[in-house]
Amino acid sequence: MRAVAPPSDRAARAAGTAPEQRWDPVRYAEHGRFVSDLAGPLIDLLAPRAEDDILDLGCGDGVLTAAVAARCRSIVGVDASPAQVAAARARGVDARVCDGHALPFESEFDAVVTNAALHWMKRPDEPIDGMWRALRPGGRVAGEMGGAGNVAQISGALADALERRGIDPKSRFPWYFPTPEAYRRRLAARGFEVRTMALVERPTNLPGDIVGWLETFAAPFLDAVAQDARPALLSEVRDALEPALYRPGAGWVADYVRLRFLAVKPAADRC
Ligand code: BEZ
Repeated sequence: MRAVAPPSDRAARAAGTAPEQRWDPVRYAEHGRFVSDLAGPLIDLLAPRAEDDILDLGCGDGVLTAAVAARCRSIVGVDASPAQVAAARARGVDARVCDGHALPFESEFDAVVTNAALHWMKRPDEPIDGMWRALRPGGRVAGEMGGAGNVAQISGALADALERRGIDPKSRFPWYFPTPEAYRRRLAARGFEVRTMALVERPTNLPGDIVGWLETFAAPFLDAVAQDARPALLSEVRDALEPALYRPGAGWVADYVRLRFLAVKPAADRC
């Protein structure tokens, strides 16, 4: 199995919108709860304060937003998925449907927290610009996203399976997984002072079968084939990944690589 070459940083800028990801809150709760469960290091980086007004960019079903709410003055969650926003609201979160490429806020927040969301935004300068505008001078962004090499084995197996069907996998690649250098450059170009930027390998135990992960997180690849052809595609990808990612006794372990950062909008806006 080869690793699929994700579009380069430059190609990501030009690519525009990826094929659509669909979110199902019930499936997400079953197969994706680890995303908020493993956010401890990000919340440590955010270090919420009682006087903070916070924006959660890509709040998903609001589990993390609700946990941070207990430690700050206010928190607003935004997410592009109406179904996830409905799930967040059902837990009492102030959540709004909003494309992260077009954040509408102006100097309203002391901090932005964003977990596992920025890699779905294929025009990365737009959320960076939106976060900048949303922050008050002196505000900070604590972010975690997939970084270079994230889920390389999984996307490689998906790419191989699509290529065997005559489908160009690059056109389906829905993620932006930058290197630390590339993302630092983008933040700095907007005026942020980057305080920390770390690429961290984090093999991640999945709560169930890899097929559950694929159905939850990889819709843009799966949607390349007709519904009745999906079971064969999933079983082919599962077979290809089993030697690398299935560990007897531990179960399925996904090859996650996180990019975690803290950046500050200077108190005196020089731009
Ligand atoms: C991530 O959080 O790194 C991730 C989630 C879904 C698909 C790909 C990556």
